[in-house]
Amino acid sequence: MQESCIIFGGGGFIGSHIAEDLLKNGLRVNVFDKQNASKKNVAHILDKINFIEGDFNNEVDISKALKGNTYAVHLVSSTVPATSNLNTFYDVESNLVSSLRLFEKCIEYGIKRIIFISSGGTVYGNPIKLPINEKHPTEPISSYGIIKLSIEKYLYSYNVLKSLDYKILRFSNPFGERQNPFITQGLIAHLLYKIKHGNTIEIWGDGKVIRDYFYIKDGAQAIYKAIKDKSPNRIYNISSAKGLSVNQILQRFRNVLKLNFNVKYLDGRKFDVKTNVLDNRLAAKYLKWKPEFTFNEGLINTWEYFLNNG
Ligand SMILES: NC(=O)c1ccc[n+]([C@@H]2O[C@H](COP(=O)([O-])OP(=O)(O)OC[C@H]3O[C@@H](n4cnc5c(N)ncnc54)[C@H](O)[C@@H]3O)[C@@H](O)[C@H]2O)c1
Repeated sequence: MQESCIIFGGGGFIGSHIAEDLLKNGLRVNVFDKQNASKKNVAHILDKINFIEGDFNNEVDISKALKGNTYAVHLVSSTVPATSNLNTFYDVESNLVSSLRLFEKCIEYGIKRIIFISSGGTVYGNPIKLPINEKHPTEPISSYGIIKLSIEKYLYSYNVLKSLDYKILRFSNPFGERQNPFITQGLIAHLLYKIKHGNTIEIWGDGKVIRDYFYIKDGAQAIYKAIKDKSPNRIYNISSAKGLSVNQILQRFRNVLKLNFNVKYLDGRKFDVKTNVLDNRLAAKYLKWKPEFTFNEGLINTWEYFLNNG
């Protein structure tokens, strides 16, 4: 029988690419997203997927959507690092509590494996050693990172106590088509949008903050590999393993995309760790996953998308 996967938050940036990739791998794909959510990100595959509207915080909606699926992917988040500390109670209730409800339901409905997309950019905190591997201490600074790590820990507990099978993919900084330029997660989308509209770019700090960026079409391929992974590993970093500072990215905009723009530097933000570069060798060895696109190739595709889409 054809296997199926439900993607919670599948109408978003990362989820839409995962949906595309799982279809290519022959799975039946169900996408769960907010009521009346825009279907723009999945418009090109809408005839091939089942789009389910509901609220992730509603147990009944989750139950209805989950039933009958082989696998589940969890991508829903109501916060981003910059907003998570504004209301930590809300962060816990909407993200942690709802995730636990989902895990209970996964057990009830016999989901064979759940894949959780965690945040390699925040769960480790300030690095002691670079590149950061999966054994690096975890000292998240933001509530966002604390919640992601808590969800990871609960998955471990649900596995030990209730045999829920899971894999965790700690994404560094994905970028690409369909990333939302209006939230403060996704630097490249945000900057390209500003440049397209002739606005001055505003940078937090001196532009020396280093991050590890990978193209989302590469990242999406890690999910099917994690679904099929037979190794005992539970956690994988998904990253390019290459660091780029904000200033270096601006340089790529100038040199690769031939863009002109003005830059204004603002005060740095306390919750931004200075450097984050993830070691991706575990994923390379066990998932046989590695980025196939160069940063420049991903950047060109992303810019083309921004030029052609409102
Ligand atoms: N984008 C990144 O840089 C990045 C990096 C690491 C991890 N992540 C994590 O990956 C996940 C997906 O990120 P993204 O960039 O695709 O975000 P996104 O906002 O584009 O997608 C999230 C989707 O979840 C949906 N959603 C939110 N609340 C919901 C609710 N109550 N009920 C139903 N649907 C709801 C949204 O409508 C949206 O379509 C998030 O959990 C995020 O924390 C993102």
